[in-house]
Amino acid sequence: MPNLNAIKISDSVYWVGAIDWNIRYFHGYSTLKGTTYNAYLVLSDKITLIDGVKKGFEDELLERVASVVDPKKIEYIVSNHAEPDHSGGIPKIAEIVKPEKIFASKGGVRALAAYYPELPVKAVADGGELSLGNKTLKFMETKMLHWPDSMFSYLAEEEVLFSQDAFGMHLATSERFDDELPWSLLVDMSTGYYANIITLYSPFVQNLLKKVAASGLTFKVVAPDHGPVWRNMDNFAEMLKYYDKWSARKTDKKAVIVYDSMWHSTEKMARCIEDGLVSQGIKVKSLFLQSCDRSEVATEMLDASAVIAGAPTINNEIFPSMSDVMCYLKGLKFKTPFGAAFGSYGWSGESVKYLSQMLADMGCEVIGSVKSLYVPSEEVKKQCFELGKEIGEKINNRN
Ligand code: FEO
Repeated sequence: MPNLNAIKISDSVYWVGAIDWNIRYFHGYSTLKGTTYNAYLVLSDKITLIDGVKKGFEDELLERVASVVDPKKIEYIVSNHAEPDHSGGIPKIAEIVKPEKIFASKGGVRALAAYYPELPVKAVADGGELSLGNKTLKFMETKMLHWPDSMFSYLAEEEVLFSQDAFGMHLATSERFDDELPWSLLVDMSTGYYANIITLYSPFVQNLLKKVAASGLTFKVVAPDHGPVWRNMDNFAEMLKYYDKWSARKTDKKAVIVYDSMWHSTEKMARCIEDGLVSQGIKVKSLFLQSCDRSEVATEMLDASAVIAGAPTINNEIFPSMSDVMCYLKGLKFKTPFGAAFGSYGWSGESVKYLSQMLADMGCEVIGSVKSLYVPSEEVKKQCFELGKEIGEKINNRN
C-alpha cells in the first residue's frame, strides 16, 4: 500500500510531484517557503509522465504514481524543461520504468544530452503533436522562458496546459490547487518568482502572451512545475494580468532604497532619503542588507520607479554586499526609470561614484548622489532629504 498519493487534477491527469518543504536556497534565490517539483501523469492509452523531479525526490514521484498505476506502465516521458530541478530525477525514473520514449524540444534534447548523455531523447517540434492513443499532446516552444529548451505541453481533450516554470511559484503547501490558498499569498509568491526568475525575459513573456492568445487555446487547468495547480480560471486570468503588467515594466509610485552600512552612517542617510520620498507621497521600501537578501530586493524592484543605492566605502571599493546585489539587479534587467546613490566614507570615498556608474549601466536616469564624511552632518542629512524629495517629484511627474 503506497504511503504517498497522486492527486487528480482532471479526468485523466494526476499530480505526482514532490514537496520540498526544506529548501531555502535555490541558485541564489531565497526560497523561504520551500517549493514543489510538480510532475504529472496522464492516464491515456500511452501512459505519459510530464516532467520529473529534482534528483533525490524520485521515490516520492514513483510512490505517487504507484497509487494509481504501476510505474512500469509509463510509456512516454515528456520533459518540458531541462533544468535539473525537473530533469535531475529523470535518469533514475527512466531506469526503473523503462519508457518507450522520452520527448523534449530541440533545445531540450541538447540540454538533456549534456546533463545525462545516457538518456535517449527524441525532439518534438514547436506546434507539433504527440498521439497518446486516445489523447493528444500539443507542444508550444517557449524559448528563453526561461531556458532555451523550455516548452509548454497541452492536453487538448481536457484543456490542461503544462506550463513548466511559467505561472509557478516557490511555495511548499499541502494544498495542491490555487483556490485552496489565499489570493494574497498567490500574488506575493508569484511576484517574488517572476522578479527573480523571469524579469530578464520579460520581452519574451509579452510575445508569449500574444502567441497563446492567437493560438485560440482554452484552458480548464494550468499545471506549472512549481507551486499550486491553477484550476480557478478567474484566478488564472487575474494572474495573467500581473504577468502582463510585470512584463510590460509598468511601475508604481514606489521607490526602493537598498543599502548596507558599517557604523550606521549610511543607514542614517537612508532614513533621510526615505523621508524626502515620503514627503512627496511615494511608497518606499527601505531594504538594509543585514536584514534582507538579494531576492527580497529584486522582488521589491519589480514595480518600483526608482532605486536608491547606498554603500559605505571599504578598501577603496563598494561594500561587498552591495556589489552582490547590484550585479544581481543588473543581470535581471529591471527597467527602473530613476536612480541615485549615497554612502559614507572615511578617506577615499569611491563607493558613491561606483554605485552611480552601476545605476547608469542598469539604464536608470541618475538623479543625484550624496556622500558623507564619517557621520552625516545636519547639512548632509538635509541633502539626503532633498535628494529623496527630488526623486519623489520625478516619480510623480512620470506616473
Ligand atoms: Fe524550475 Fe527553470 O526550473
